[in-house]
Amino acid sequence: MPREEWPSLKSPEGILRLGVLASGRGSNLQSILEAIGRGDLSARVAVVISNKKEAQALERAAQYQVPALFLDPSHYLSREAYDTAILQQLKEYRVELIVLAGYMRLVTRTLIEPYHDRIINIHPSLLPAFPGMHAHRQALEYGVRVSGCTLHFVDEEMDHGPIVAQAAVPVFEGDTEEQLSERILAEEHRLLPQVLQLYAEGKLKVEGRKVHIQEGASIRKNR
Ligand code: GAR
Repeated sequence: MPREEWPSLKSPEGILRLGVLASGRGSNLQSILEAIGRGDLSARVAVVISNKKEAQALERAAQYQVPALFLDPSHYLSREAYDTAILQQLKEYRVELIVLAGYMRLVTRTLIEPYHDRIINIHPSLLPAFPGMHAHRQALEYGVRVSGCTLHFVDEEMDHGPIVAQAAVPVFEGDTEEQLSERILAEEHRLLPQVLQLYAEGKLKVEGRKVHIQEGASIRKNR
């Protein structure tokens, strides 16, 4: 397909503006910030927003001089009202792509409609297996031999939208949640910046459930 038919996703300034939503540790946020620092990802984290005051992600953002906001869900009467507040901030910071990086809260239509095909989530299982909370625990309890992570665009169903990339890891006898989580996390950190770079370059196209990656573009096995 000729290049012009792929959606142009860069801002007029030529650099993709990311808004990262995170609830906790923020190691995936860190992987984005480091990839930008290395020059592997041509994007800017315009803002980091958390629903948790204590989220380490907010500290990591601040260390990189990225605006870091805590929006308290208890101050809003509904999920939609909360997402409206988030949307206002995303607009304020001219965010073009939202990254859910360990964001442990359902997003509503309020956010999904204006950012249709412009929200990427990372989930620590090979979807459609084990959506929702405690994906590692679910995988261990089920007894799978292989698990992994999934990068997907967000639609109105939880952990469901079109899949961009997945990586598999083995599950070993006697694995704890922590051990499996650590193995998967290494893959998350490898995939996430690469997927964002593909998006920044306009090399991803969503058609129904399928995400097409432009011919010649690929995801590397190493970072
Ligand atoms: C990651 O493993 C991510 O896949 C998972 O939370 C962790 C966040 O880690 N996300 C979900 O479970 C979403 N359903 P981090 O805060 O260190 O990036």
